Amino acid sequence: MTDTHTTHDALEDARNHDIKIYVNGDIVHRDDAKVSVYDSGFMLGDGMWEGMRLYDGVWSFFDDHMDRFYDSCKAVSLDVGMDRAGIMEALTATARANDMHTDVHCRLMLTRGVKVKPFQHPSLSRSGPTLVIIMEHSKPADALQSKGIRLATVPQVRGLPMSQDAKYNSHSKLNCVIACLQAEQAGADEGLMLDPHGFVNTTNACNFFIVRKGAVWTSTGDYCMNGVTRQKVIDLCRANDIPVFEKNYSLYEAYGADEAFLTGTFGAQTPVAEIDGKPIGDGHRPVTARIRELYKDLIAQDIQAQSAAV
Ligand SMILES: Cc1ncc(COP(=O)(O)O)c(C=O)c1O
Repeated sequence: MTDTHTTHDALEDARNHDIKIYVNGDIVHRDDAKVSVYDSGFMLGDGMWEGMRLYDGVWSFFDDHMDRFYDSCKAVSLDVGMDRAGIMEALTATARANDMHTDVHCRLMLTRGVKVKPFQHPSLSRSGPTLVIIMEHSKPADALQSKGIRLATVPQVRGLPMSQDAKYNSHSKLNCVIACLQAEQAGADEGLMLDPHGFVNTTNACNFFIVRKGAVWTSTGDYCMNGVTRQKVIDLCRANDIPVFEKNYSLYEAYGADEAFLTGTFGAQTPVAEIDGKPIGDGHRPVTARIRELYKDLIAQDIQAQSAAV
């Protein structure tokens, strides 16, 4: 193994060896958490998921995640089988069973369920959806903040929305996995993906931003995941007089950026050290640091607001 790291590197936590996992209402030890080989998620990647974080007993930006989750499920006629309160109950029960309160990351996954035959047609899933919740103790590794991530531009692009819309947080992530493999083969940690027109778009697992002369740029959003963190960063910039643009730009402007960073629920904002072997900026990242602080405050406000609403 080389010293490759990913935006999802977390500090090692032995407690994760014995976590309990939610599977369709049962909460069982991870070794006993199983789904059928006939499950649509396993067989076809036919399912949707959300990655969320628990801080001080509160699921951060829960409504934003649920908006995306229910929109995605509706768009592929996947009946969640419960409302948001039901999802919250399942999350709360799983957190309680694991005695988890803060610095927790969860992957909430819903598939079309078990099929009666090993074929593609959605109507072969007849026994309702499969809901799985994996929660882990999780603190992003500090090294990511100091070292930053190395990106390589990859041949795999994010496609047009009429093929497989990048806004689906689907179980099938093959497009992203191929991009990640290409980046790894190029000696980088994560792949920087272009859109079908050659403009800089997103990475295989996060959204992508650059900073030029104090202004924050990101793609138009037409070909990338509608990241909750991406939107929060844009909103924070707008609210705090940091110029922000959602626009087309090319590698030319990315290579010459003063700063670059990735966004995602897992790591919040992760600095980019280099793209295609070219160092980004001079290692000073004042705008990224300011946005990180604003984002931390926003999470604190969200915790307060959600706690007060209970
Ligand atoms: C491909 C991709 N891009 C970006 C993100 C970041 O989205 P969010 O900020 O909602 O975590 C994710 C997370 O699921 C993702 O899978």
